Amino acid sequence: MAIGFDSTNLLAEMVGEQNGLTRDEITQAQSAAADALDAFRTAYAHGHYGFPDLPTQTETVKAILKFSAGVRGSFDTICLIGIGGSALGSWALDCGIRGPHPIQPQFSATNPRLVILDNVDPTFIAGALESMNPRKTIAVVIAKSGSTAETVATFLIVRDWLITKLGKRAGERIAVVTSAGKGDLKQLATSENYVTFHLPDNVGGRFSVLSAVGLLPAALAGFDVRRVLKGAARMNDDCWTDSLDVNLALRSALLNYLIMTQRKKAIHVAFPYSNRLWGMAFWFRQLWAESLGKARNRSGAEVHIGQTPVAALGTTDQHSQVQLYMEGPNDKVFSFWGVGRHSDSGRIPKTKLGYEGFDYLAGQSLAKLIDAERRATAAALTEQGRPNCTYMFDKVDEEHLGAFMQLMEFQTAYMGELLDINAFDQEGVELGKKYTFALMGRKGYDQFSDRFSAYEAKRKKLI
Ligand code: PA5
Repeated sequence: MAIGFDSTNLLAEMVGEQNGLTRDEITQAQSAAADALDAFRTAYAHGHYGFPDLPTQTETVKAILKFSAGVRGSFDTICLIGIGGSALGSWALDCGIRGPHPIQPQFSATNPRLVILDNVDPTFIAGALESMNPRKTIAVVIAKSGSTAETVATFLIVRDWLITKLGKRAGERIAVVTSAGKGDLKQLATSENYVTFHLPDNVGGRFSVLSAVGLLPAALAGFDVRRVLKGAARMNDDCWTDSLDVNLALRSALLNYLIMTQRKKAIHVAFPYSNRLWGMAFWFRQLWAESLGKARNRSGAEVHIGQTPVAALGTTDQHSQVQLYMEGPNDKVFSFWGVGRHSDSGRIPKTKLGYEGFDYLAGQSLAKLIDAERRATAAALTEQGRPNCTYMFDKVDEEHLGAFMQLMEFQTAYMGELLDINAFDQEGVELGKKYTFALMGRKGYDQFSDRFSAYEAKRKKLI
């Protein structure tokens, strides 16, 4: 397992001093990295953050594997009901291991498909239900809080759909992942006897992919979850070390921090050159956005800080976004995600057809082409003074996916420390949630109904 990181194109020597970092600057900032590591180590030692422990949670893994082995073969569809951190990691793993829809291998009881219901678009949900056979579906409901409106509403519909078709046996087709505390989902799971897995309280949604949140759907799909964890565990070791040469997460966090704050790059483009990493780009987008976008720093001062993550797919988005990236505002830093060995080289036939625009490709491979395009785009951006770096996957498999996720989580945690913000809360999404509860008539939200009415009244006056 090997994940490389090439940060040369972040240097001033490559992209100019206005956009890139000087070696002196990086050296001087090393003490800030050491402080960030210390601060995170201390918080971890106090039990505040649990994601570093997930790769070694053997008991949970055993229980998940036992449950999956008992039910496998009885379903051809896993219906995941969850949103945000409760859904994106499963999508990233599925996409990484089996490839993106719609070109995954044919679905069957031995290769069940993963249908993720992470939106309350009624047409989407109706279409999904129509496409699934309740007798061959296992529903996995995932909500740390146990009360997310979208997840609860969708679950109520799926539960009813299962009961209508299966009667009393519906409960056997439902598994739950939630906090061990007293959330409503936990209560219902207990009263209806659903198989339930818990995620630790000190693991936030977007850091939870290696808990039952991501491992249960993965195990049900037949993925080798032990290998995912093995890759993550190996990365863990590196991510705790003092040495910036070994600790890739700390090094990349420091460079990202300097580029963002000292060179004013407000946008971070995650640019995988592999359709298998496309789900990962969306998982990363949430991790980076929700963790780093904060109004206040740790001392309570208003900072309104963050770096907007954008997902772009190579080579597809070269024909959609790169014009802007090359010539538009120089407010971005690019993270290319390359793949050393693709599972298929995509050999191009040797036959020459006598056309200059075709024949140079004869006998080469798509793997070589996609890699050439990535390197070419990096070179072109560099020439335009656009800072960029590259994460290289030796290959895309369970171990590399687990390692990369752990790397990104540590990188985010260290970035939070460097920015002096709490990367693990998400106060900013609360107000919208409260208004939704008020609009949907949930008890206890009257003050938000009033506040919302005042907002509507103000708008009406202006229209
Ligand atoms: O990272 C987070 O905490 C959030 O994105 C949550 O995962 C998301 O809001 C879903 O929450 P829950 O799992 O409680 O339904």
